[in-house]
Amino acid sequence: MAENLKVLKNESVLQIEMDEVFELGNRIREDFPILKRLVKGKPFVYLDSAATTQKPIQVIEAIKNYYETFNANVHRGIYSIAEEATAAYEEAREKVARFINARSPREIIFTRNATEAINLVMHSWGQNNVQRGDVILTTEMEHHSNLLPWQILSKLKGASLEFIGFDKEGFLKLEEFDKYKNKSVKLFAFTFASNVLGTINPVRELVKYAKEMGAITVVDAAQAAPHMPIDVQQVDCDFLAFSGHKMLGPMGIGILYGKERLLEEMEPFMVGGEMVKSADFRGSEWNDIPWKFEAGTPNVEGAIGLAAAIDYLQRIGMDAVRRHEVKLTEYALDVLARMDGITYYGPSSPEQRCGLVSFNLKGIHPHDIAMFLDNEGIAIRAGHHCAMPLHNRLGIAASARASFYIYNIPSEIDLLAMSLEKIKKMLEI
Ligand SMILES: Cc1ncc(COP(=O)(O)O)c(C=O)c1O
Repeated sequence: MAENLKVLKNESVLQIEMDEVFELGNRIREDFPILKRLVKGKPFVYLDSAATTQKPIQVIEAIKNYYETFNANVHRGIYSIAEEATAAYEEAREKVARFINARSPREIIFTRNATEAINLVMHSWGQNNVQRGDVILTTEMEHHSNLLPWQILSKLKGASLEFIGFDKEGFLKLEEFDKYKNKSVKLFAFTFASNVLGTINPVRELVKYAKEMGAITVVDAAQAAPHMPIDVQQVDCDFLAFSGHKMLGPMGIGILYGKERLLEEMEPFMVGGEMVKSADFRGSEWNDIPWKFEAGTPNVEGAIGLAAAIDYLQRIGMDAVRRHEVKLTEYALDVLARMDGITYYGPSSPEQRCGLVSFNLKGIHPHDIAMFLDNEGIAIRAGHHCAMPLHNRLGIAASARASFYIYNIPSEIDLLAMSLEKIKKMLEI
């Protein structure tokens, strides 16, 4: 079946030299059992990695090995396999810290996902630091996960929620920061890369603007950490959130990076077992960071799977992961731009985008596109992608989205394009 996809190389809609992209994609595909299956009797083409990525056998095996050989609760047992499980869990934390160049593993908190990580900041930092009359600043291109928590905080505290807009190409309007220079902006929450427009924001510059205003920064890196090298010390943000399942890891494990000084000052998010040093009937003393923020039995399986995913990505190299996606995105933009009736959203330069393209085909609802493509064995996402206000800004109710990862190859984009042409012919668009 992988053969079927390879054959298309010579029939590419566009004759772009893509050897490197084919080489990486084809080599890697062998590690992903799910990519060998058929869907509706056709080779499976997975173009929805922005929603969740597929898992290589190395991640699946790491989880299986944990359950088969050292499954135990962590931080409690005094017996061998409990110590092995604790060591593996804490090694995963160290791996995450190195992956984003955090100063210390103490700055890495395991959560369920990026959404929970952002909610943690809202509760533990926001509730104690934002007051009536303050401004919470965010952007018009946020996923609901980085918008709804701030709506709640602004209502709870009587703070105003304000937005930096984006222009026609999908870039943030940086001049709008001027409006907030003399306001009490306490927090600026923004996405590293948009899950609809694909725009990669100038994160370092945005953090600088926030600092000048005296605001702390919360960076939603759900669509960035899996796809490019990230260095939190260089970016200098206060908090950064991402999810394991979007970077080859299992579902149910997410990461909150936070600067040690801030984490030390913050109150816990949830309380119960694991996060206390000592407890009395009427009071308790919190555990040290990061465990202060990890109440209850953690997702050990998730941390171990995530560590295997990081190993896998680092063997490829995050620079190579990024290069692969830039080329695929360039190819996809080229193919889509040549098709009549297609409108795609976000920057035209692939270097300024992450590996996804949202688009509409004139005269047909995105859900119908997705249903038709499913019959061709192609999985894409259709809808508002948890970014309804962003779609309102674009003046559309929904879009179709194709998103790529290391296992995708240009011939899959050819198949997408050919199937879109089929839809057009069928509907006489
Ligand atoms: C930009 C962005 N932020 C946050 C999230 C939420 O991620 P999760 O559902 O893993 O918490 C997503 C998921 O699609 C996303 O694309």
